[in-house]
Order: sequence, then structure tokens, then C-alpha cells
Amino acid sequence: MNATILLNNEEHYPVLLDEILSIISPQNGGTFIDCTLGQGGYTNAILKFNEANVIAIDRDPDIKLIAQKIKLQNKNRFLFFNKKFSDIDKIQTKNYNIKAIIFDLGYSYTQIKDPKKGLSFESKGKLNMKLGLNSFSADEVINKLDQKDLELIFKYFGEEKDSKLISKKIVEHRLKSNLNTEKLVNIINSVKKKRGKTHNATKIFQAIRIFVNKEISELIYGLINSTKILGINGIILAVSFHSLEDRIIKYFLKSLSEDKKISRYFPEEKNHNKLFKLISKKPIFPSRKEISINKPSRSAKLRYGIKKKNIINFEKDILNKFSKLLEIENLSSKL
Ligand SMILES: C[S@@+](CC[C@H](N)C(=O)[O-])C[C@H]1O[C@@H](n2cnc3c(N)ncnc32)[C@H](O)[C@@H]1O
Repeated sequence: MNATILLNNEEHYPVLLDEILSIISPQNGGTFIDCTLGQGGYTNAILKFNEANVIAIDRDPDIKLIAQKIKLQNKNRFLFFNKKFSDIDKIQTKNYNIKAIIFDLGYSYTQIKDPKKGLSFESKGKLNMKLGLNSFSADEVINKLDQKDLELIFKYFGEEKDSKLISKKIVEHRLKSNLNTEKLVNIINSVKKKRGKTHNATKIFQAIRIFVNKEISELIYGLINSTKILGINGIILAVSFHSLEDRIIKYFLKSLSEDKKISRYFPEEKNHNKLFKLISKKPIFPSRKEISINKPSRSAKLRYGIKKKNIINFEKDILNKFSKLLEIENLSSKL
């Protein structure tokens, strides 16, 4: 979620950076893919090592400016693509031996503070939530989709227990006039009344953001396509900020690191099919020190796996496992 916090205009704080650097060892050189360039925290840290190269991706067109600055200082060692990371396999990487591919999911502090993006429940005006390269906005989701569809989105992507009532109220209120951010927050507050530790609108806003940015298929295909382009002994690392993301990453890495049949579609391949080696089945969490400096990092979890084999058709199992979530994401075809 909020991995990068601005300490002042220039400085930012990339989550679990030391842990990531110690896993990928950029001091030994090589090419690394940063799938979520953001403010450039990971990329800049990797490029401090003269023998290291970075190919970076970000879907947000505003990140092009950050990329240009990095390019100026690292001409031949840095490439940037304004793409979605699910398209990582469309980038020409054949000439590189990719040592690691890193995902730092969600959005940065700079993005949530950008009023144009409307990611925050404190934003004003028209609903948006597009990170970049989207085909629809939160405005269309909230003002056009059926009550039942909204309920499913809130329930599965936000794990919101008041999904039914909130979607009912949304549909009632929008009959009078289109809903904007403030009106949506007011509706949620009227249903939930008592404020807990987190803002009443947190789960609903998370659900809409996941839906608008197709974050489920982005993550699943990001992991699948990264694995395809990674060489043997290459490492895939992902930092997640909520349980839905972590469940997908955990299942992907764990199911492909167990010595059992990879997929029910390939029953003949029973043994020695470990695609990944996991150093630990447990995630890595930020240290107390890191959390004290950068509070939003408290919900971060890092998992990684080392690719040990080239296996085809490994993706069917994960697509099947998360088919319900992918089905809900596809409700956007009604827009
Ligand atoms: C948490 S920030 C990354 C921060 C970065 N690690 C740093 O240290 O500055 C996540 C970034 O990923 C980008 N992003 C999110 N989903 C994406 C996707 N599917 N494809 C490409 N970029 C994505 C966002 O636009 C955002 O800039």
C-alpha cells in the first residue's frame, strides 16, 4: 500500500530495502527488474553498485519524470517502461540474464497525496483511483454497476462486512445525483457509524482501487510472466500490504515449491517439479526500527523464491485457485 513516505521533498523511504538488497546482492552486478519504480527507492539503491543494471516498469505516467532523472545519472545502466507489470514478458529481456524481479505493490505516498488520482478518502470531487493505463475509473464503478456487483467487489476485494448495506445505500443515493468522493464517504460513515482505529472507508476504498486497477490479475499475471522470463537461479520478490495480495503471493510461491504434481492438468509430472526453492516459508517483516521511522511499513510482508527449473504450463493451477476473484474483476466488462 503506502510503501514510500516522504520525509522531505527529496527523501523517501523504501520498504524493506536492506532486506531486499541482501537477498539480491547487487554488489555482484547483473540486471534487475524493478516492476514498481515509484519514487525510485529500490532502483536508486541498486544503481549505487556500478556493475548493476536496472530495467524499471511503472504504470503511472507521472513516474516518467522520476525515470528521466534516474536515466540522466545512469545512461547505459537504466531503462524505463511505462507499462503494467503483467506485460513484463512483452519487454525485450532476451539479451539480459535477469538476476531478480521485484514487486513493491500498491501505491506510494506521493500518489495518494495527488488530488488528481483521488485514491484517498480525503480527496475532493469526482471519484477516480486510476493509477495509469486503465480503461475505467472509480466514478464509473460507483455510479454504474449494479448493487449486487458492488456488493461482490466490496466483499471480496475489501473484506467489508457491511458490503450489502453500503451497496444498497449507494444505489439509493445515486438516483438523486452522481456520487463523488465526499458523498461516498458520507454514505459509508452513515452505515458504519462507529469509527474504529482505521477510517470507516478504508476497506471500501481498497476494494474500489483493486477493482479499478485490476490488481488481482495484475499480480497473478505479473508473477506468472516474471517467472517465465527469469533465468535459473533468478529470484522473484514481492512486498505486499494486505492479506489478499499476500494470499496470492504465498500460494504462488508455496504451491510451486512443493515436490508434488504442479497441476492437475499434468498428472504425469509427479515428482521433482519444484519450480522455486524457498529459503523460508514465512514472510519477512520490517524491523521495529523501520516501523518506527516509516509507520505505514508495519503492514508490509516480503516473500521470495529462487527459480530452479523451467517448467511449462505451471500457471493453470493458480488461475484456477483464484478464479472467483478473477471472475469478480471481470464484472468490469459491464462498464
Ligand atoms: C509502493 S510504490 C513503489 C515504491 C518504490 N519501491 C520506491 O521505493 O519508490 C508502487 C508503484 O507501483 C506502481 N504500480 C502499481 N501497480 C502496477 C502495475 N500493475 N504495473 C506497473 N506498475 C504498477 C504504482 O504506480 C507505484 O508507483
